[in-house]
Amino acid sequence: MHLSTVLYTSVAVALGLASSSHALPNPLSSILSPSSQPTESITVCSAPEDLLQIKYININPDPPARGQNLTIDAMGVLSKDVLHGATIELLVKTGVIKLLQKKLDFCDEAAKIDKNCPLLAGDQFLQHTVELPKEIPPGRYTVNVKVKNPDGEQVACINAKATFGIIPKF
Ligand SMILES: *[C@@H]1O[C@H](CO)[C@@H](O)[C@H](O)[C@H]1NC(C)=O
Repeated sequence: MHLSTVLYTSVAVALGLASSSHALPNPLSSILSPSSQPTESITVCSAPEDLLQIKYININPDPPARGQNLTIDAMGVLSKDVLHGATIELLVKTGVIKLLQKKLDFCDEAAKIDKNCPLLAGDQFLQHTVELPKEIPPGRYTVNVKVKNPDGEQVACINAKATFGIIPKF
């Protein structure tokens, strides 16, 4: 099971959000992109008061494919700094089965994609590529990612889904 890849991709997506953020009271139920169709693979589950307002998230290819590079391109506006001690809560499920539930250190993960910590308020851009191994087991995966500041304030909430192999699409 190459869960680490799912995890890493989720974190990359999360950081795309986190590194892209200004929260306006405008809950986004889907990602609007200036240049392409909104992706069905990623939805924003942020609350209106969350610190990051996500402007767009594009992934390529969409949907993601095993054995191929996945490029994530995201932009957002952050209303407050994301501080040392911030966390990334990750929940990966296949169907109703929990594969992975983990709390990660935001700054540790940010460093892996060359993002500074604390992440300062303002416009945030992320472009990141991860290679998805061929060995990911067939299945329908859902990923929930929540980023929170140390005081518990939520930065962003993102859901991602991907189906690999023989199981039909959602
Ligand atoms: C993914 O990108 C890396 C770096 O550009 C490249 O070396 C690798 O061959 C690519 N993999 C695939 C499957 O295209």
